[in-house]
Amino acid sequence: MARYALLLLPSANRVYAVAAAASLAQAELELFSRRALGGSLGDLEPTTIAGVPYITFQAAAVDERAAAFLANLSSGYALFEYGNGGLLRPVTLAPLDRYDDDLITIQKYHGKTNEQFTKLLLNATVLSSAFAGDMLSRKLTVLDPLCGRGTTLNQALMYGYDAAGLDLGRQDFDAYSAFIKAWLKRKRVKHHVGYDGPVRREGKVIARRLQVSLAATRDAYKAGVTQLLDVVNAPTERSAEFFRPASVDAIVTDAPYGVQHGSRTAVKGLARNPLDLLAASVPVWAGLLRPGGAIGIAWNTLVARRQDAAQILADAGLEPQEDRPYLGFRHRVDQAIMRDILVATKPA
Ligand SMILES: C[S@@+](CC[C@H](N)C(=O)[O-])C[C@H]1O[C@@H](n2cnc3c(N)ncnc32)[C@H](O)[C@@H]1O
Repeated sequence: MARYALLLLPSANRVYAVAAAASLAQAELELFSRRALGGSLGDLEPTTIAGVPYITFQAAAVDERAAAFLANLSSGYALFEYGNGGLLRPVTLAPLDRYDDDLITIQKYHGKTNEQFTKLLLNATVLSSAFAGDMLSRKLTVLDPLCGRGTTLNQALMYGYDAAGLDLGRQDFDAYSAFIKAWLKRKRVKHHVGYDGPVRREGKVIARRLQVSLAATRDAYKAGVTQLLDVVNAPTERSAEFFRPASVDAIVTDAPYGVQHGSRTAVKGLARNPLDLLAASVPVWAGLLRPGGAIGIAWNTLVARRQDAAQILADAGLEPQEDRPYLGFRHRVDQAIMRDILVATKPA
């Protein structure tokens, strides 16, 4: 058995409180171990080495496959084998990232979900699905049905996945649409805007939609190995009008916090509590998930209780995950927000 030490991204302590950063990283590492690495990482614990916080763990060996998975930890900065005598030997990590990271970091706006947290939520959801083992090798389809200005979509693109999104906010849609088209041009990413405009039904405009196919390399683009970005400006309760049943591998979303954003449902108007929005939308979202798929929702536990959100998922035929490490994601964001993650799977 060898011992390894994961150095956390320095920014993790700005995104989360110091203690929360360590426990979130530990929960995420546990999920990678359990869902993608056959439970091969043991004895995980926060450890301070020469005054610097790490998460350490035991493993027979971190082979190439394990290193490829661990390279995508949301708060991992570097991984070392932690040898006798306290020596740290670096393990090479090659993350999935296929575009410049300003795709994710450059947009700044009020109400943006933190990028690092979004990556954690995407990882936790994909790892919980039946497709965890394909996380690095298959082009998965990720839907964010409350996508705002696209933090989840950009992270999904970064991983090489197809990204679908939906948001009611016209300003959010327009801002994201303008951003992504400008970014693709500026970065000279090969792409094709397949559709950009209103969606009409029976003579009425019911939504706006942007569909872009893109590829990280010219060769991939030429060979038709492209990713699809598909964003719709419409109420999320109507997602099934825009996306095919059982077409999505993972649904990843950050629900309104009842603080800066409200939750808007067609029936009740603007509400502080996201439960009404979830109750109206989760059954629709569940229909879009492939059997074996998973849904990961982040929300503010100060406005909606975990058990109530879990019940809505269960009522839609999904299986909420309620054991460790899933109970290790709760953390304070600020005075008004205590954020948590709820993951549920669709039976295969
Ligand atoms: C917490 S924000 C998501 C932010 C996003 N992750 C980002 O980083 O840009 C929640 C989003 O839900 C959207 N929303 C609220 N109610 C909605 C509804 N009924 N249908 C679609 N979108 C809705 C809001 O417009 C807001 O953009």
